[in-house]
Amino acid sequence: MFKKNSSYALMTILILAATVLAACQPAAAPEAEVVEEPAAEEVAVEGKLAVGIVLPTKDEPRWIQDETWFKDALSAAGYDVEILFSQADPAKEKANVESLITKGVEVIIICPHDGSAAAAAAEAAMDAGVKVISYDRLIRDTEAVDYYVTFDSIAVGAQQGQYLIDNATGSGNPLYLYAGAASDNNAFIFFEGAWGVLQPKIADGTFVIKNSSEAVALQDKATLTRDEMSKIIGQVTTNWDFNDAKNLAEANLTAAPTADKGDVFILAPNDGTARAIADAYAADTDVTSYFISGQDAEMASVQYIIDGKQSMTVWKDVRTLVADAIGAAVALLEGETPVSKGAYNNGVIDVAAIQSAVVTVDKNNVVSTLIDGGYYDASDFTGLD
Ligand code: BGC
Repeated sequence: MFKKNSSYALMTILILAATVLAACQPAAAPEAEVVEEPAAEEVAVEGKLAVGIVLPTKDEPRWIQDETWFKDALSAAGYDVEILFSQADPAKEKANVESLITKGVEVIIICPHDGSAAAAAAEAAMDAGVKVISYDRLIRDTEAVDYYVTFDSIAVGAQQGQYLIDNATGSGNPLYLYAGAASDNNAFIFFEGAWGVLQPKIADGTFVIKNSSEAVALQDKATLTRDEMSKIIGQVTTNWDFNDAKNLAEANLTAAPTADKGDVFILAPNDGTARAIADAYAADTDVTSYFISGQDAEMASVQYIIDGKQSMTVWKDVRTLVADAIGAAVALLEGETPVSKGAYNNGVIDVAAIQSAVVTVDKNNVVSTLIDGGYYDASDFTGLD
């Protein structure tokens, strides 16, 4: 963790940022094995901290990836790191932020569990004079956000939808839609990106939506308002939860007549939910084949892709996001404005942002992208020869 208020600390942070950026080059990248996670107390440093990190939950591999890369980046430069998890609880998230404020941090990097509920935590930070970087997910409905580091989430949804389109032939293909949690601003952006490419293919008859009357009612609209997306998401949300995803998929399959099955196309919002949904569709004997999307390149989904059980994932190189977050923290610690390329409106203000590109990964490029690039090790998987 960064130590506070010394030129030595700032110099080391700059070296650290350079180290992280260097780590983003595939050839120099460390292996992505998930390290044994020490409790926050074990890694807390003596004295005051300058930056704290709050992540939404330990229960999804995606956020363990972020924790791992933050730790790799910071410990490579000789720093311990305190990363607190909110365990899907906005009250715990706020308590985590307050605890970091008490320790004297100057910048907090927060990935909110619930974008709107996190406003209270961000405001507590602002009131204490602490800068807030919204990480991956946007904190909504408050002025208390200084900066946003994210991936190109429209592109995530667009790549998911495009993959389904590229694998569909003829017309009348059954399309099943699933979405993330309505409390996560990203769920809307992913859906917006997917709808943007899928809607023309629904309008021209390539796909027929089978599990959302709200989406069917809106299928002639190329662009949806947030309220319209809310209606659809309310009907097809997974809440980013494996069990919710499984239960919804099973309910959809039970409700669907045999004619709505056969060769199906499934928009799944991320890898955890994709595996749950894919398992449900694979277990239905009336489903002959399925194409299903995902995102995050979680190890379990990479194995599913190798095994032919998940069609694709959208890889978001977390090393880049970590480097961007550290770069922004360094700028804020120095009293500078972080470099931004655009802004995201959070319902109250336009938050200056930087966003990174994302990559479609399927069976054809899984080795060249994720293994040869050093993100994962070949020995992490079976069936790769
Ligand atoms: C993240 C995804 C993640 C999802 C569920 C989203 O906000 O961008 O990478 O899979 O949350 O945790």
